Amino acid sequence: VAATPTLPEQAACARLPPHVRGEPLDAPLALEDGLAHLSIAPIADRGEVLGELVLVHDMSFLDRRATLASRATFLAFALVGLAASVATVLAARFSWRSWTAELRRILAAPFRATGDVATTRSFRPVLADVRDLVSRLAAEEAAESGARWSAERLRHVLQRDLQGEGIIVAANREPYIHERGPDGQPRVVHPASGLVTALEPVMRACSGTWVAHGGGAADFEVVDERDRVRVPPGDGAYWLRRLRLTEEEERGYYYGFANEGLWPLCHVAHTRPEFRAADHAQYQAVNRRFAEAVAQEAEVEDPIVLVQDYHFALLPKLVRERLPRATILAFWHIPWPSAERYGICPWERELLEGLLGASILGFHTQAHCNSFLESVDRFLEARLDRERSSVVMGGRETLVRPYPISIEWPSRWLAGAPPVPDCRAEVRRELGLPKGALLGVGVDRLDYTKGVEERLLAVERLLQRAPSLRGRFWFAQLAAPSRIAIPAYQALNERVEQLAARINQQFGDGYRPIVLLRAHHEPPDIFRFYRAADLCYVSSLHDGMNLVAKEFVAARDDLRGVLVLSRFTGAARDLTEALVVNPYDLEAASTALLAALEMTPAEQEERMRSLRAFLAEFNVYRWAGRMLLDATRLRRRDRLALKLGGGPAAGEGRA
Ligand code: G6P
Repeated sequence: VAATPTLPEQAACARLPPHVRGEPLDAPLALEDGLAHLSIAPIADRGEVLGELVLVHDMSFLDRRATLASRATFLAFALVGLAASVATVLAARFSWRSWTAELRRILAAPFRATGDVATTRSFRPVLADVRDLVSRLAAEEAAESGARWSAERLRHVLQRDLQGEGIIVAANREPYIHERGPDGQPRVVHPASGLVTALEPVMRACSGTWVAHGGGAADFEVVDERDRVRVPPGDGAYWLRRLRLTEEEERGYYYGFANEGLWPLCHVAHTRPEFRAADHAQYQAVNRRFAEAVAQEAEVEDPIVLVQDYHFALLPKLVRERLPRATILAFWHIPWPSAERYGICPWERELLEGLLGASILGFHTQAHCNSFLESVDRFLEARLDRERSSVVMGGRETLVRPYPISIEWPSRWLAGAPPVPDCRAEVRRELGLPKGALLGVGVDRLDYTKGVEERLLAVERLLQRAPSLRGRFWFAQLAAPSRIAIPAYQALNERVEQLAARINQQFGDGYRPIVLLRAHHEPPDIFRFYRAADLCYVSSLHDGMNLVAKEFVAARDDLRGVLVLSRFTGAARDLTEALVVNPYDLEAASTALLAALEMTPAEQEERMRSLRAFLAEFNVYRWAGRMLLDATRLRRRDRLALKLGGGPAAGEGRA
């Protein structure tokens, strides 16, 4: 009857759903664009139904709102998701940057002489884990390899950790000298040098190049156009690069500064060091020449360079200037004096700075490391990190570590040596001694640090105290002439000769107990003497290590023979089953010689077995391996620093 204008067609009275008139109705009503709600209420007056009120409530807004709500929810989630992703990316970027910055700081920390960043709180767990992992890996590796170092294991380390890169050695003395034989042809001589004894087997295992002074008469007849020759002769495992030195250079650098200055400075053997400005100038010049040669031999920009001994105190720094990314291992084969004594050297700062160009500086003993650190403390402006045993100077760190040197095990000279009974018989025959003669040996360069005079005096004292040994005991001293151009060595030669003559005249009956063999002996010959002897007496007054003592033990695979050893050698720390003596104390030394001659075979065997077990373990491959593993760790750190863009790393010549 009456309808609002917006009432839809479907809700017109005529189209209402069937229902009972007078009764209310609530029902949904389908419209074109959605649902409506229909309510019919009767209108009555005193019981009579007058009509119906129809209310049509448009419900389509419900659908619209639902759609809107779901879209809004979706949008809201999308926005939240986006915001969360952006926040995550930003947070990740920020923490990566601060993480790498912190890592860089850790890597650079020791070189900047700032606080100990490695202990930064956020890194402590990571570093602890890494250390743990490293030590577990090391333990596993040691277990796997049976823990014994050998040429193969050293080679393996080089290939695995150093990508088989060859090594460059700089050492004054060459491992093979070409002299001219009696027929005028070049013949190879093995020099009497502890350094060569130790390092040569390492180079055979590692390959690379050994840069040395070419001092042999025929040295330059066998080299190529770059002054190089493959050695060992007939095997050719590595290159020997020979440097020609003028007479003036050799006199100033080798005889003068190195052997009249530094050698007596570092040994407590009562020979006065002589330092001359002209020698020093040659020392600088020759160190520069070696640095040039090392740079020429380098095939990569970060080679491993082993700088050997007191001839090259300036070389680590000079090599660093030319090859900033090189890993330089310097090894000082002789003792390092106390800081007070070291101060005698007029160029004390320059030498220390030169050595601190190295990444690692090695000595035989912790005591020598300590003396070096003391010298640095006294003469340089540098930071000493006692805990790490390192020196930080000019933003670079040098680790100062003890690496006790040793010999190859098993010795290659043992393989070709005749059986002990043959050696005993041959040597006695050659020396014109009776078959059953008791024999002691000494093997040295004729050097005033070796205590040769004290040794002969101890033999004399022995014969005075034990007359029953006269005519039964002889002492053969193999003495290789050495540095004979130096007056102190000439004087020593004369003194030793006179002393031997005096002792030999003392006992009458044509009995001459001292057999002084003043000549160069090749290793097979020396091994024959070791094997022929009843005892070997090493009486150095001061010696960084002394490898004669270790070689004697290596030669005695029959487990016989007694080693009498000066307590002033580095070796005395390791070879505790030797009879250790003070060579100045002639009473004690002669008592030890007597004890050696009277020792039962069972005790000799027990001592020798124990010494040999020690040397089998602590051989020269271990010496080199430990240094190279330390170097490897430094290289990895430098390479990582470089990758992280941590700036200078090795580029600034960092360790
Ligand atoms: C010592 C030095 C070595 C040297 C050897 C022989 O052992 O530490 O560097 O090679 O003596 O001396 P020489 O002067 O003949 O090389």
